[in-house]
Amino acid sequence: MDYFPVFAKISDRRCLVVGGGAVAERKIHMLRKAQAGVTVISPDLSPSLRELHLAGDLVWIERRFRPADISEFDLIIAATSDEAVNQEVSRVARRERRLVNVVDAPALSNFISPAIVDRTPLVVAISSSGAMPVLARRIRAWMESLLPANLGDIARRANCWRERVKARFPDLDQRRRFWDATLDRILAAGGWSDRKLQDALQQEKDAPEGRVFLVGAGPGDPDLLTLKALQVMQQADVIVHDRLVSPGILERARRDAEFINVGKTPGSHRFTQARINRLIVELASEGKVVCRLKGGDPALFARASEELAALRGAGIEVTIVPGITAASGCAAAAGIPLTDRDLAHGLTLSTAHCKDGIDCMDFESLVEANRTLAFYMPVKHLGVLQQKLISHGLSQSASCAIVENGTRDDQRILRASLGQLARTAARASVKAPAMLLVGDVVDQIPASAVDDQPPIAARSAA
Ligand SMILES: C[S@@+](CC[C@H](N)C(=O)[O-])C[C@H]1O[C@@H](n2cnc3c(N)ncnc32)[C@H](O)[C@@H]1O
Repeated sequence: MDYFPVFAKISDRRCLVVGGGAVAERKIHMLRKAQAGVTVISPDLSPSLRELHLAGDLVWIERRFRPADISEFDLIIAATSDEAVNQEVSRVARRERRLVNVVDAPALSNFISPAIVDRTPLVVAISSSGAMPVLARRIRAWMESLLPANLGDIARRANCWRERVKARFPDLDQRRRFWDATLDRILAAGGWSDRKLQDALQQEKDAPEGRVFLVGAGPGDPDLLTLKALQVMQQADVIVHDRLVSPGILERARRDAEFINVGKTPGSHRFTQARINRLIVELASEGKVVCRLKGGDPALFARASEELAALRGAGIEVTIVPGITAASGCAAAAGIPLTDRDLAHGLTLSTAHCKDGIDCMDFESLVEANRTLAFYMPVKHLGVLQQKLISHGLSQSASCAIVENGTRDDQRILRASLGQLARTAARASVKAPAMLLVGDVVDQIPASAVDDQPPIAARSAA
């Protein structure tokens, strides 16, 4: 490690910034956030620094830097556009053993300032030791999106309870366990609650309360996870996931979480729905935070009702975290909208087969004009779907697209008329997971996005 990471109190230190332009402005902003008194030496000041000066928030010495200036200050930042001045500031400051930073010049600095994620009093500092500041900034951007905005509030309010918690749990290990469990509960609930903390303090045991999140993992591309889904995945003790949740998504979960794959593979019923229901109830009853991770949106064609009923029946708190459903993901991947002011006034999301078979489906209402139809789990039923939709009035030439593995690296998009749907899919050996989209909006799919076109003769015959 080239630098010693430290958070220094500088409210009682004398800080000098040499330079009065935009770069100096950013540094002064940070120094003032840390309540430092700031002096600026520069022949000129930017308009916003002038305002600060007029408001009495910084001292301005209106001239060029002189070596004798250094002795007055503990911490010096050189932020001029004149390299010679920056070098001189660095040389004099280091000779006098002061802390000096020259902006963007680690070789001239004996301290560097990190990129920070500010959730005061919680502050995360990231540094590449000057090797690649843009990398540190990128990590900061990731962390900004991952760390809930209210962490500062949580830390501040926890601080107010420290003495009471100490009195209740004089033993350090016991106290640490209590805070750990409390933090899990606070993060899971999304914010601080004085009442819950009070209740927890009054309880005899310090065992945490379990809870379950039904989380949508989106259609496959890890970048399509929501921030909320990521936050829950980072907190959960256990991730109970379906087969369709891709490895790239699971990699983003808390490293030391327990992972349980309850995916129902065709023909294998290692985990029946009843067993999954029991499992998540049991895990939460043990006090665990459970992320029940499902492909797409957890409340669409995902047996959510059964899991909600089991959890609520057992008195377990459950929260739904929505995700991007396959219909949206696949349409976006194919470059089309699902509705259109002229072509599609509505959208129907439908399974391609009901619990009691395809005959219980209401094809009358499905074939209404000017709608887009998005069928989930269509692969095994394409022939019947084709026949039923046509016999209920949809044209043989209605536009269809099959999006296989939408948003994933191995995505395929096929186009066909309704009359040629099953044959096109069979010829291309379409496999699940795939979505079937039917309607005029499908014609907007750019030719370059399509992986297979039916032969022209077959299309015109349809
Ligand atoms: C049991 S349903 C779950 C749907 C999920 N809850 C959602 O909102 O997308 C599974 C079906 O979703 C569709 N599906 C899920 N991910 C997909 C993807 N990446 N590409 C195409 N279809 C997908 C397929 O039709 C698959 O058979």
